[in-house]
Amino acid sequence: MIPNSWIREWILLLLAAALLLLIIEARGQAQGNKPQGDATPQNPSSSRPLNLLVINDEENEIANKSVTSALKELREKRTDFLLGDVTVVQINKSDARGTLDLICGVWDAAVQLGGYRIPDLVLDTTMSGPASDTVNSFTAALGLPTLSAQFGQEGDLRQWRNLKPEQTNYLVQVMPPADLVPEAIRQLVIAMNVSNAAILFDESFVMDHKYKSLLQNVPVRHVIVKSKNAGKQTKDQLFRLRNLDIVNFFVLGGQKTLRATLDAAQSLNFTGRKYAWHGLTLEDFSPECNCVNISVLFLKPSPSANQQAVGELSNKGLLPKPVLTSAFYYDLTRLGVMAMRAAIDAGQWSSNVDRLTCDSYNGTNTPARNIGFLEFLKNVTSSNDFQPTYANFTWGEKNGQHQASFKMTVTLVTIADNNPVSTEDAGSWDAGIDRRLEVISEDLVANHTAQTSYRVVTVAQAPFVIHDAETDTWSGYCIDLLDEIRDIVKFEYEIRQADDQRFGNMDDEGNWNGMIKELKEKRADIALGSLSVMAERENVVDFTVPYYDLVGITILMKRPKAPTSLFKFLTVLENDVWLCILAAYFFTSFLMWVFDRWSPYSYQNNREKYKDDEEKREFNLKECLWFCMTSLTPQGGGEAPKNLSGRLVAATWWLFGFIIIASYTANLAAFLTVSRLDTPVESLDDLSKQYKIQYAPQNGSSAHTYFQRMSDIEKRFYEIWKDMSLNDSLSDVERSKLAVWDYPVSDRYTKMYQAMKEAGFPANMSEALDRVRNSKSSSEGFAFIGDATDIRYLTLTNCDLIMVGEEFSRKPLALAVQQGSPLKDQFNNAILSLLNKRKLEKLKEKWWNRNPLRVTCEKQDDQSDGISIQNIGGVFIVIFVGIGMACLTLAFEYWWYRYRPKTNNLNTLQNPKTTHSVKPVRFYLQPAAAPPRNAFDPSQFRAQF
Ligand SMILES: *[C@@H]1O[C@H](CO)[C@@H](O)[C@H](O)[C@H]1NC(C)=O
Ligand SMILES: *[C@@H]1O[C@H](CO)[C@@H](O)[C@H](O)[C@H]1NC(C)=O
Ligand SMILES: *[C@@H]1O[C@H](CO)[C@@H](O)[C@H](O)[C@H]1NC(C)=O
Ligand SMILES: *[C@@H]1O[C@H](CO)[C@@H](O)[C@H](O)[C@H]1NC(C)=O
Ligand SMILES: *[C@@H]1O[C@H](CO)[C@@H](O)[C@H](O)[C@H]1NC(C)=O
Repeated sequence: MIPNSWIREWILLLLAAALLLLIIEARGQAQGNKPQGDATPQNPSSSRPLNLLVINDEENEIANKSVTSALKELREKRTDFLLGDVTVVQINKSDARGTLDLICGVWDAAVQLGGYRIPDLVLDTTMSGPASDTVNSFTAALGLPTLSAQFGQEGDLRQWRNLKPEQTNYLVQVMPPADLVPEAIRQLVIAMNVSNAAILFDESFVMDHKYKSLLQNVPVRHVIVKSKNAGKQTKDQLFRLRNLDIVNFFVLGGQKTLRATLDAAQSLNFTGRKYAWHGLTLEDFSPECNCVNISVLFLKPSPSANQQAVGELSNKGLLPKPVLTSAFYYDLTRLGVMAMRAAIDAGQWSSNVDRLTCDSYNGTNTPARNIGFLEFLKNVTSSNDFQPTYANFTWGEKNGQHQASFKMTVTLVTIADNNPVSTEDAGSWDAGIDRRLEVISEDLVANHTAQTSYRVVTVAQAPFVIHDAETDTWSGYCIDLLDEIRDIVKFEYEIRQADDQRFGNMDDEGNWNGMIKELKEKRADIALGSLSVMAERENVVDFTVPYYDLVGITILMKRPKAPTSLFKFLTVLENDVWLCILAAYFFTSFLMWVFDRWSPYSYQNNREKYKDDEEKREFNLKECLWFCMTSLTPQGGGEAPKNLSGRLVAATWWLFGFIIIASYTANLAAFLTVSRLDTPVESLDDLSKQYKIQYAPQNGSSAHTYFQRMSDIEKRFYEIWKDMSLNDSLSDVERSKLAVWDYPVSDRYTKMYQAMKEAGFPANMSEALDRVRNSKSSSEGFAFIGDATDIRYLTLTNCDLIMVGEEFSRKPLALAVQQGSPLKDQFNNAILSLLNKRKLEKLKEKWWNRNPLRVTCEKQDDQSDGISIQNIGGVFIVIFVGIGMACLTLAFEYWWYRYRPKTNNLNTLQNPKTTHSVKPVRFYLQPAAAPPRNAFDPSQFRAQF
């Protein structure tokens, strides 16, 4: 029998429910999950029904479904819990005001109804944001036992931050799985020691409160962004992140998000060892994508220990995906109801505790509660009555310590040709704040980390940096050096030429070009090359310790060529001298003939007297020529004339010959042995003092800057001196101290710079080389002023060029890195250790002394060497010509002998003693004492002359 009072009660209940429904409907937003059917306590004698206020975020569909399912199950299966009214309020997470109106409307109405209709427990499944804060302030103010699944740690729950101890007992927040999974990123970042990270999350995660805290106190440059969930946009997003120099990507989200992101990564070629991809999810799937080759470190929840329950519930459609989350809300609802039931049964929460309406709350009148709700939650969790569906619960002392507890498995999934090819177990992670990642294989994780890859910018300059354009390979001293450093400081690098192929100079406005600019604009990490350390560069970049000796500026010139000539022996005497000698020879020969002819003591005029002599030499013209010729040579002249006068002529000729030969010999030796290299320029000073050789550095090179600056400095000194000496305030004595006749300030560089400007600065090295090579000689043309290493290398590989003078303005060479870059210290240590191991010396040896392009130039006219064929060869030509002429003469003689005799014989017959018939003529001409032999024939005599 049902008592009458119960019927009255029943009608009242119905009325109240109808009213509540009306209010909720009127608010328009709220959806009531009305107690289905019978809210009458099944066991009225032992207890009263348990009413529930569920506050949900309208976006949190999973929670909504799961809570509904849980309540339905409870109502159906656990009638012993006496589940009473359940009011569900759906709120908009960004609308704090509306939320308060909604909740207060529902709450105040229930309080006004009083009695059994007032909710005993608030189940809060909102996630975060202003509305959640409102809910928290509502529950805290009115002192309502609350089980909240909001996201965040204690500090993130703004309205629950400073709870009194008794409040922590009934205002309980449990961190849901979706709030815990992102924490794995922190552990991954720490475990893999990465320095940059991009975290992309989709709608299944809430990161609002994580931006600041997730990677707090971890030295990692990172970006947390909501993932764009469309192909092109995802690509753009990844591209932008890559431009921030990020190579470690963490994707938090569902299957679709991970797939879209990996697809985008593949199409951007963000794969391989330089990138590291990580997927973290709440769902249960394997990563897939249209990928050629990519490996993903993938974290997903370990399967539930209670597979059976999960299976059953899923089959009934009670657990939407992701199951971990829905099971969490499902269990949370059950847990809340069970704990509250226990609290009510234990008498800690009676229906007549103080209840305030929103309106009656005045800021301080929060009622005191002594319900140990947290204790009940703990007891229920460990009781046999409660079996977690998926994640169990872990309880701590206060909010921020209560959380869903589950494990994530870490696997390394390799996807090739659109299919997962391997899945390796890498470890596991107990979800939680600051729980370490347990890695099975350190190697696996380390191998997955994106290799640090630095962007190296360089300028090709042999032998420091040599670029083979065909094979796109790099070599050289600096490349070897970088590789050596890489072996010490582990990294990879990508190398490219500076856009303008310059080292980097500052213009008047302070703008930089070249490698320095690229470092400054952070488009490169390392500037490699024969980059010299300069104060102004030091202001914008950082230099490592020098890796090379001081290198300065020096002069490149065409190698002076000692002119070789086959007939060098002819050049010993000047042409005039040769002509004089020739003239002297003919004159002397003629003179001898004349003396011999006219001297009464000559042989031809005293044949009788000398007829017994062995040597009978008649000095006719031919004999004279022959005598003079032979007496110049060591062969001697043979029989000298008999007459004293003739002898005197001969002696004079001998003296002349002796002196000529002696001086010729002496000079010839000097000519052939001493190289007459005309090097008019031996230093920069020499260069500045002459005008025949033009000189200039390459436009924009450091040498150019040097001269520009030096001339500028000179100008400034001059201005200062001028100002000083023209200063009116100086006393006469002081001024006279400044007065000198000479210009007191050097203008050497000003003049040189002027000369360079007139000569024109070559735009590049090849132009400079052309100009040097086209120089007429080493004393006329062009001298190039440039980097000493350049010039040294050019002279090493070319024989036609020489380096002239000392290096000046010497500076050390070093690598440059971005200002403040941590690479500086690492590189410094590496270079110093290479220096200690004498590796740098070996490199120098390799690229200079043993350079394969090194040429060995033939030494030019070195004094230590003998006379070269180039210079003495003419003598052989003379021999050949002489022999050739002799041969011709022989032929002629033979011909003469064969064909002339007939006429000769004829002549002989007519006048057998032609010579004899001539001689008397001579006799009569001369005032000789010897008797004439033939009659004098003046006509004949005259005919001879
Ligand atoms: C990625 O690499 C492939 C093959 O190497 C190439 O065809 C494609 O153009 C690259 N895509 C991008 C965006 O660089
Ligand atoms: C709030 O109300 C309580 C009792 O209802 C009263 O004691 C207290 O003084 C009130 N505080 C304010 C600030 O009005
Ligand atoms: C929780 O359980 C323990 C033992 O199981 C019991 O001693 C304790 O009183 C219980 N606490 C509450 C609040 O029920
Ligand atoms: C859940 O966790 C509690 C402690 O919080 C423990 O006592 C209980 O045995 C766990 N339940 C399961 C099924 O592991
Ligand atoms: C990691 O990489 C190194 C070198 O590439 C290799 O020798 C090693 O086997 C790799 N380890 C794993 C677990 O893949």
